[in-house]
Amino acid sequence: MSNVPKIAVIGVGNMGKNHARIYFERPDVELVAICDSNKERCDEFAGKYKCKAYYDLDEMLTNEQLDGVSICVPTMLHKAVVEKIAQKKINILLEKPAAHNVKEAEEIRDIIKKAGVVCVVGQIERYNPAVRKVIDLVFKGELGKIFYMNILRQGPYPPGVVDVDVLTDLGIHDLEIINYLLGKMGDCVSHACLQTHNFINKKDPDIIRVLMKTKENIVINLSTDILSPTKIRKLYICGKKGLLSLDYITQEITFYENGKHRENIDYQEILTGVTVGEERKIIVEKKEPLLMEINNFLNSISGKEKPYVTIDDALNGIILLEHLKENFKK
Ligand SMILES: NC(=O)c1ccc[n+]([C@@H]2O[C@H](COP(=O)([O-])OP(=O)(O)OC[C@H]3O[C@@H](n4cnc5c(N)ncnc54)[C@H](O)[C@@H]3O)[C@@H](O)[C@H]2O)c1
Repeated sequence: MSNVPKIAVIGVGNMGKNHARIYFERPDVELVAICDSNKERCDEFAGKYKCKAYYDLDEMLTNEQLDGVSICVPTMLHKAVVEKIAQKKINILLEKPAAHNVKEAEEIRDIIKKAGVVCVVGQIERYNPAVRKVIDLVFKGELGKIFYMNILRQGPYPPGVVDVDVLTDLGIHDLEIINYLLGKMGDCVSHACLQTHNFINKKDPDIIRVLMKTKENIVINLSTDILSPTKIRKLYICGKKGLLSLDYITQEITFYENGKHRENIDYQEILTGVTVGEERKIIVEKKEPLLMEINNFLNSISGKEKPYVTIDDALNGIILLEHLKENFKK
């Protein structure tokens, strides 16, 4: 590898243009090329970020010596693009979801392992500094035994995303985090699912509610939809020691500690809640999650870090996703 990694972005739509912006702004990276089958878009961003434009992936791979690429084409094309990139032994930052289904995700995993290249999956919320802090607190046992998790991920219809349903597009962020926090949950003991079709998108459900229970009796409630005019992205985790609240967007965390149980409480205390303890803000330095994701990719290429989200992590999220989708059919 050259001193400064040579990078290309494949697909500069909604997401890829942000990858290109971040690579371009970094002095420790050379953004060599942009590849997009849409010529106009490709020229626009190659011009903006002063790099070469390719409308054809094979042509770019013939002409350029690359250390890494961001793959930001629609999800249904991920596997075909991964195959070509891995064959050239180029490291990969793969946008989420890694694949539409378990079979394709497994095939992608096998291609990557066989080629021996670095693969970081862009499950962007896992690079969010506040999410990393919450994961750390849960793993350190700061909440005690976990009782339940409530997750809200709601927002407006994303016009760019045409090839996936709301659980695959939005819910996958949370399913992957749940899996990572609580261990593989494809075999969780019960699921209750509700989906509603057709308010906006004629093909795919636009409201999904999922209720899950793990073998350890942890209850998880995930509400996701694309009907809300404003974005809401919240995670609540209740454990034996208290309730943790996370706002993914503002990167704010609050911990509501349980109070001490007391005998002979008065009537007013019964009304207002007898177990309220200290309320603590947990401060993290706010950072753009995509910047953190790209940092992790570059550090994984140079061997300074391990990928935060591996293709195996991504696959586990997709296993749970497919499990839930099977449940919808019942
Ligand atoms: N991390 C996140 O929060 C997040 C958000 C949005 C999208 N995504 C993911 O990013 C990926 C892209 O989504 P998007 O919303 O940017 O889609 P998009 O449709 O806006 O952009 C895709 C781009 O890929 C180009 N393209 C299509 N086929 C190509 C090919 N064969 N070779 C080169 N370019 C090709 C298109 O012309 C387009 O410019 C998807 O996997 C999606 O799930 C992730």
